Amino acid sequence: MFRKRPDPERAASAVAVVVEGRTIRVPAGASAAAALLLAGVGHNRETAVSGAARAPYCLMGICFDCLAEIDGEPNRQSCMVTVAPGMTIRRQHGRRVARVASA
Ligand code: FES
Repeated sequence: MFRKRPDPERAASAVAVVVEGRTIRVPAGASAAAALLLAGVGHNRETAVSGAARAPYCLMGICFDCLAEIDGEPNRQSCMVTVAPGMTIRRQHGRRVARVASA
């Protein structure tokens, strides 16, 4: 479905991120969802009830099928997060408890 095209100009502006413990380089400005797809992990989350595999669908913040753990914070819509150097992205397994920010 998605294919990675080699592009020398993009390679020069690539960002190193850690996906499922493996460091990969992705184009600067790409989303964390794109990084998961480029890493070839297959799916980025499993549903809380049945454990069904899910992968990014809309890539524009509507479906929530791209939920992932980013820099240790679960329930992030990975399609809405731009990669940053050293960012850690992990697949999300089942339900996670949302953190509540203190005032
Ligand atoms: S892919 Fe649909 S909200 Fe991210």
